[in-house]
Amino acid sequence: ARKIIIDTDPGQDDAVAILLALASPELELLGVTVVAGNVPLSRTEMNTRKILELAQRPDIPVHAGCAGPMDRELVTAEHVHGQSGLDGIELPEPTMPLQEQHGVDFIIDTLRAQPADSVTLVPIGPLTNIATAFRRAPDIITRVQQIVLMGGAYFEVGNVTPAAEFNIYVDPIAAKEVFASGVPLVVLPLDATHEALTSAEWIAEMRALPNRCGPAVASWTDFFERYDKEKYGSKGAPLHDPCTIAWLLQPDLFTGRHINVEIETQGEFTTGMTVADWWGVTERTPNALFIRHVDRDRLFALLSERLARLP
Ligand code: BDR
Ligand code: CA
Repeated sequence: ARKIIIDTDPGQDDAVAILLALASPELELLGVTVVAGNVPLSRTEMNTRKILELAQRPDIPVHAGCAGPMDRELVTAEHVHGQSGLDGIELPEPTMPLQEQHGVDFIIDTLRAQPADSVTLVPIGPLTNIATAFRRAPDIITRVQQIVLMGGAYFEVGNVTPAAEFNIYVDPIAAKEVFASGVPLVVLPLDATHEALTSAEWIAEMRALPNRCGPAVASWTDFFERYDKEKYGSKGAPLHDPCTIAWLLQPDLFTGRHINVEIETQGEFTTGMTVADWWGVTERTPNALFIRHVDRDRLFALLSERLARLP
C-alpha cells in the first residue's frame, strides 16, 4: 500500500477525505497531522479524533501541528463549516489521545525513518505544517514521494477573496515555499473540486447505508451544502478535499496539465492567488500537475463503494 500522511483542518470535506482513505486498502495512513484553518487548532484536532473514532480507527496517531500561519493572523471559515468546524452531526467527545509529539516533528521523523520516496503528503488545509517541516529539516524535502494537495484556483478564481482559494490564502508564505520546494506536486484546485458536487440522490444513498459513517457523511454534506447554495447557487456540496484521495486511488478520473504555478504573496488584491501558467506563456519550469476537471459520476461511484465498507 502507498504510505500517506494527511495534513488537515476538519472541515466536513476533510472528514470525508479521511474516511475515504481509511476505506481504501491501496493506502496506508501513517498518521494525521492537524493544522489551524477552517477553525482554530483546538477544534480541528478534536474533530480529527472524532472522525477517527467514528471510523473505529483510534490506532491512527493524531498530531497537532501549527496553531496559525507563518507570518500573519489566522483567518477561519466558521461561516462555511459552522462553529465546531464539523457541524451537521453531534459526535461524542473523543476518548483516543492526542499524541504528544508536535505534528511538524511527526512529519520530519516519519520522512527520515521511512525509505526515501515512499511517503506521500496529502495536505487538505493551509500549508503551514508542511512548510514549517521543510524549513526546519530541509533534508526531508527530497525524501517526499509526492505532495497531493487541495488548494488554489485558476479559472474558478477565489472563494475567500476574488483571487484566492482558502487553503492558499490562509498561509501564502507557506504555500509559496511548498510550491518552490521541488517536490512533485499534484494540485486539486477549485476548478476541479467545484465539479465534485454532491447530488440529493447520493446524499440519500449515504443516509441509507447500514453503517455509522454513511449517515454521518450525509449529515455533514447536508450542512456543508447550505453555504455553496446561497453563495454560488450551486446544487450540492463540493467535496473539495476527498478529490486528493480519489486522485491517489484513480488518477484517471481527473484531467489536468503539468504547468508552472506560482503563489502571489504581496498583491494588493491578489495575495494567495495561484498564478497558474495554464497556457505556457512563461519560461518558468513546470512544478505541478494542475487538475482542471473530474469525472463526477465515477468519483461518486468510488465514494459510494468505499464508504459502504466502513463501520
Ligand atoms: C478548502 O477550504 C476548506 O474550507 C475546505 O476544507 C477545503 O480544504 C476549499 O477552499
Ligand atoms: Ca480542508
